[in-house]
Amino acid sequence: MKNIIKFLQSRRSITAKNMIDHNINEDDLDTILNCGIRVPDHGALNPWKLIVIKNNARLRIGNDILAKEFKINNPEATEEELDYERKRFCRANVIIAVLFKPVSHPKIPLWEMELSSGAVCTTLLIAAQSLGYAAQWLTEWYAYSKAIIIELGGNPDTDKVAGFIYIGNKEKDPIERRRPKKENVIDFLIE
Ligand SMILES: Cc1cc2nc3c(=O)[nH]c(=O)nc-3n(C[C@H](O)[C@H](O)[C@H](O)COP(=O)(O)O)c2cc1C
Repeated sequence: MKNIIKFLQSRRSITAKNMIDHNINEDDLDTILNCGIRVPDHGALNPWKLIVIKNNARLRIGNDILAKEFKINNPEATEEELDYERKRFCRANVIIAVLFKPVSHPKIPLWEMELSSGAVCTTLLIAAQSLGYAAQWLTEWYAYSKAIIIELGGNPDTDKVAGFIYIGNKEKDPIERRRPKKENVIDFLIE
């Protein structure tokens, strides 16, 4: 138990640009996915779907979707910029896309389903980091592209990308980032 607290108090994301695409053990990936789908979920509606992007799918989606969409949105894009888009997913070894898929329910609000999707992302991130991998939760521009939602099997009229969890290997530990001061973000109501 003490180890979990120690880990949570010191864990850090490693940015996709600083991770290396080496290898993720299949059992570890399975563990990470199992942790990710075991999250608080009001009504057990499972209002999310996880899509694992790995091996050649990374470059294929980069080529077919990211570079093409980027060119449409930025007609003046240079070949270097387009190449970056093609290889964007290759920064990591595995990317887990978390798609928020709302479920129609008479009592449970959409907001709670969105929160549960965020919990999936956080849990995937924490599981990967706890196994020693470099991981980061990103949305970047393409999370808001209809084409990527379709590619992931979603409906762009209803579904949203909650995040792409990039998982790769660590070269070195990152330095700490600015964290909130407790007094700025925590209030106590004690009567
Ligand atoms: C929903 C969501 C989307 C994010 N998208 C981006 C992004 O597109 N680009 C980015 O640099 N960081 C993004 N971040 C921030 C990083 O994932 C992360 O919070 C930051 O690197 C610090 O992580 P740490 O507190 O785990 O060390 C996003 C965070 C969240 C929660």
